[in-house]
Amino acid sequence: MALLVLLLFCQVSILQVYAAPFNNAFKHLKSAPKFWHISDLHLDPTYHVTEDHTKVCFSSKGIPALDPGVFGDFLSFSYMKQADLQPDCFVILLDSLPHVPKEELSTDVVINVIANMTHTIRQFFPQLPVYPALGNHDYWPQDQLPASANAIYDAVAKLWSPWLNPEAVATLQKGGFYSLVIKPGLRLVSLNTNLYYSPNQVTVNMTDPAGQFQWLQGTLELSRQKMEMVSLCNCSRSLPYAINTTAVRESYNEQLVKIFRNYSDVVQGQFYGHTHRDRIMVLLDHQGKPVNSIFVTPAVTPIKSLLEPFSNNPGVRAYLYHPEDYALLDIWQFYLNLTEANLEQRSKWKLEYIMTEAFDIDDIQPHSLHELALRFEQPQSKVFDKYFNNFMVSYKLNLTCEGSCKTIQVCALHFLDQEIYSQCIAKADR
Ligand SMILES: *[C@@H]1O[C@H](CO)[C@@H](O)[C@H](O)[C@H]1NC(C)=O
Ligand SMILES: *[C@@H]1O[C@H](CO)[C@@H](O)[C@H](O)[C@H]1NC(C)=O
Ligand SMILES: *[C@@H]1O[C@H](CO)[C@@H](O)[C@H](O)[C@H]1NC(C)=O
Ligand SMILES: *[C@@H]1O[C@H](CO)[C@@H](O)[C@H](O)[C@H]1NC(C)=O
Ligand SMILES: *[C@@H]1O[C@H](CO)[C@@H](O)[C@H](O)[C@H]1NC(C)=O
Ligand SMILES: *[C@@H]1O[C@H](CO)[C@@H](O)[C@H](O)[C@H]1NC(C)=O
Ligand SMILES: *[C@@H]1O[C@H](CO)[C@@H](O)[C@H](O)[C@H]1NC(C)=O
Repeated sequence: MALLVLLLFCQVSILQVYAAPFNNAFKHLKSAPKFWHISDLHLDPTYHVTEDHTKVCFSSKGIPALDPGVFGDFLSFSYMKQADLQPDCFVILLDSLPHVPKEELSTDVVINVIANMTHTIRQFFPQLPVYPALGNHDYWPQDQLPASANAIYDAVAKLWSPWLNPEAVATLQKGGFYSLVIKPGLRLVSLNTNLYYSPNQVTVNMTDPAGQFQWLQGTLELSRQKMEMVSLCNCSRSLPYAINTTAVRESYNEQLVKIFRNYSDVVQGQFYGHTHRDRIMVLLDHQGKPVNSIFVTPAVTPIKSLLEPFSNNPGVRAYLYHPEDYALLDIWQFYLNLTEANLEQRSKWKLEYIMTEAFDIDDIQPHSLHELALRFEQPQSKVFDKYFNNFMVSYKLNLTCEGSCKTIQVCALHFLDQEIYSQCIAKADR
């Protein structure tokens, strides 16, 4: 979907955003290094061609009235550029293609849109290293990302090569994934979890599509030996796809969870996209001890399911981390109130929340998130209501999530193993 925003940012609104984080108790974090994490750009190249408003899903719901142009998404880049948080790098989970029928796209269109996005990012942030991951819409036909070399992996490997090294370019070409050391002692792993995505028919019955599991395990093993810390991009494995179905096919999900538990000592954080919703998850070890923090960033574009009474506002976020051990400290989540933007005919991005402040936690380490999740489980938990409000990026204030809505949220937070997750849902149903 395309983002439906029109205006550029006036300096005043940016100063307003800035006033919030810098003048409060989190001043001491001001100097902490940061990186941007954004997801799901869904640039719509067909919009002007077809002029069919139903193709631009959000506008078809009658919510925003403005012109959903191809430039919409770039406004978030303008915002991030002007906000000038002085980030070290930029993690971007692509999904750059729009949600439109298969006939509207082709391999060439996919490559052109990704190329356009890549060049645009480089124009906005010429100095910033960027680490992209492929989304299920970054292929034609969508979701069917193959386990071997193809024209699209080849094209993205060439397009992204200025940000990568030759080894990363080679694995990207072969399987759509890569890894590289981005700071002394910090390795980034960008996974192609699309190979495990339930709707992907071309990997059905493969035990290790593109050898990614073996590669991942080898990479993590080597990192452990070299005492490197690792950040993983996009592995939306356990996110419930439907109530009893994970986004990632069950056997793949189990294998990923096994690997992540095994190497939780070297994994600093896991960063996801795809769902267009803001959520956290905590990986527990077999003794129930929290060992990994997992973050799903909401999207730059809104999406609305017919089954849900809510959507999401556009959002972008920055993570703060410790300069020496790379421990994750906090999240600054920014958003655009789309309703307001459309009413006032201008876009005013704001700070939505600072994670530690909004939830009264010390940091975003696994034990802090675990304790927070236990607070969510209490009946009529006010912190859970806040979490749910953030989940839809402040789309609708005071929309409550109770009963099975809350069960799904709370079970997904802690139980990444399919079986234990299902038990959690079943237990709450009783
Ligand atoms: C991206 O596509 C838009 C719309 O076709 C075009 O105006 C813009 O110049 C392109 N940007 C780049 C960097 O290719
Ligand atoms: C992340 O992984 C999921 C599932 O494997 C996939 O559907 C999605 O498109 C990927 N990309 C993004 C941007 O989330
Ligand atoms: C996958 O394996 C099942 C069970 O062996 C078989 O019925 C099915 O045809 C296979 N599907 C593909 C696409 O190979
Ligand atoms: C777990 O780690 C050990 C030691 O590093 C390794 O031998 C084993 O293969 C790993 N297992 C999995 C599933 O990653
Ligand atoms: C977004 O803007 C609308 C219209 O001005 C307003 O009613 C709503 O409360 C705003 N939402 C938030 C979270 O501020
Ligand atoms: C929303 O909830 C807040 C806090 O519970 C309350 O103060 C406010 O009046 C509510 N607003 C509406 C429109 O119900
Ligand atoms: C989900 O799985 C659980 C446990 O296997 C089962 O009891 C429950 O009926 C299932 N729910 C749905 C909606 O299929």
